[in-house]
Amino acid sequence: MKKIAFYDTKSYDKIWFNRLNNDRYKFRYLENKLNEETAIFAKGCDGAIAFVNDIIDKNVINIFYENNIKVLAMRCAGFNNVDFKAAYQKLTILRVPCYSPYAVAEHAIGMLLTLNRKLHKAYNRTRDNNFSLNGLIGFDLYGKTIGVIGTGQIGQIFIEIAKGFGMNVIAYDLKPQKNSGINYVSLDELFAKSDIISLHCPLTTKTKHIINKNSIEKMKNGVYIINTSRGGLIDSEALLSALQSGKIGAAGLDVYEEESEWFFEDKSNETTQNTVLSLLVSHPNVLVTSHQGFLTNEALKNIAEITLKNLDDFFSGKPLKNEICYKCVANPPKKCHKTSGRCF
Ligand code: NAI
Repeated sequence: MKKIAFYDTKSYDKIWFNRLNNDRYKFRYLENKLNEETAIFAKGCDGAIAFVNDIIDKNVINIFYENNIKVLAMRCAGFNNVDFKAAYQKLTILRVPCYSPYAVAEHAIGMLLTLNRKLHKAYNRTRDNNFSLNGLIGFDLYGKTIGVIGTGQIGQIFIEIAKGFGMNVIAYDLKPQKNSGINYVSLDELFAKSDIISLHCPLTTKTKHIINKNSIEKMKNGVYIINTSRGGLIDSEALLSALQSGKIGAAGLDVYEEESEWFFEDKSNETTQNTVLSLLVSHPNVLVTSHQGFLTNEALKNIAEITLKNLDDFFSGKPLKNEICYKCVANPPKKCHKTSGRCF
């Protein structure tokens, strides 16, 4: 039976992996995140499974290579934490490109509704027998302009939901969807016209700090920002100062620039050292969730099912539909350069 090192394991990860495994793999469940210090814990395994905040850099890849670990299955869609150049021809990287775009899009809408209608405040107030409505005024979403950056799987579902509220949707994408009926505008126009901006693009060198001091200046006063994609899309310090000045009306953050140290863990007994995060969460008009967008039963089941299928395909020598390599990521080629050489 193939042995697989499973990094950054949480109890909810095991539910579907154990249920769907059918004795195919022996999982070495590790609570540690994958990094150069923990890579060696996979020694003796045939492959590894990792997640969004693991660090798959050159050192990790070399340790895996030296220990004959040939495959890394990411149990997530994003892959900004993988050094593909270093992995090329050393480690086959697989991922789950789509498991439930609904989960993330619905979470983004949930953050928007919570912030706008102050549900987080109302929840606390009524538990304390405070039935006052002072300070809870929101606005109708109907008729407001929402700017969506990134119109892939999640962005498109988010747009459909927003349309259901009667919102005016505008969008920006490097590669607009053809015949989608989506109203694409330039990034500057999106910044200038949106009452709410929701981020649904990946973190790349082009999108890093797409929300920064300059772009914030182009936005409407009181704009709402929702980020369920990757923390690095927003310059956190610029966000903080725009929240303090009132330029930004509210922020819903499911991801944070330096989340790897904090998110997914119980730090309630520790004093937060990251002052930007502490200041952000102290704002009543900021809602931080801990990279929770994906966390539905349906998504967890799909993640386990597709990750297991990815590993099955790898070990049985089948074409690897969900493999990614740095050449393909940087510049989608006519002829695939995949590490496994098993193009589909
Ligand atoms: P996708 O690949 O289907 O769509 C991404 C879209 O962004 C594509 O249309 C692409 O053309 C566009 N894009 C790429 N570079 C861009 C740029 N420079 N400017 C504007 N648009 C650009 O990805 P999907 O599945 O919709 O996921 C989006 C992001 O959501 C992922 O990259 C990931 O970071 C995040 N995510 C967050 C989760 C959570 O739990 N909070 C769970 C899953 C994904």
